Amino acid sequence: ADVTVPDVTDLVDRTVPVVADWPEPGVQFRDISPLLADPQAFATVADAMAQATGEVDLVLGVEARGFLFGLAVAERLGVGFVPVRKAGKLPGSTESVSYDLEYGSATIEVPSGAVAPGQRVAVVDDVLATGGTLAATVELARRCGGEVVSAVVLIEIEALGGRAVLDVPLAALRTY
Ligand code: PRP
Ligand code: MG
Repeated sequence: ADVTVPDVTDLVDRTVPVVADWPEPGVQFRDISPLLADPQAFATVADAMAQATGEVDLVLGVEARGFLFGLAVAERLGVGFVPVRKAGKLPGSTESVSYDLEYGSATIEVPSGAVAPGQRVAVVDDVLATGGTLAATVELARRCGGEVVSAVVLIEIEALGGRAVLDVPLAALRTY
């Protein structure tokens, strides 16, 4: 069953405005900047996301916006954070996964060994749209031997079907 999360519906509505048709016609961009600029609102949201992960040893967040929420969640849980990078940013041996985005495509990477075998992992991001980003992150964690316990996002865009492409419990603080 999916995880129950505190109700921050009104808070998200108030602090994450929609920008229509950006960066492409038909895309409804969710601008998290006002939320990040409001320390009380951000703390409330980060607390709620941290309550939604379940028991984990590690949090993974995807460059760039996943860093903002993932690190805050990890800090609250007292566990480590792994920044999942876009391709070409990491030295040394990496694991990488390519995926399609709502707009464009991307490859993400972590250093080999960033997740220890058997570690319980939560993957965190700002928005779940098509699910490509988080599904790729789950795949990365598993290639390292991690056990993905949960996916936690601030916002789920239900019509884009991302929930269906994830095979882990998903907690979304706000669904549109
Ligand atoms: C955005 C958003 C999510 C992803 C969701 O990231 O931050 O990570 O798209 O889309 P999906 O569910 O269809 O994969 P994006 O890669 O656009 O850029 P960012 O670097 O600003 O996070
Ligand atoms: Mg992103």
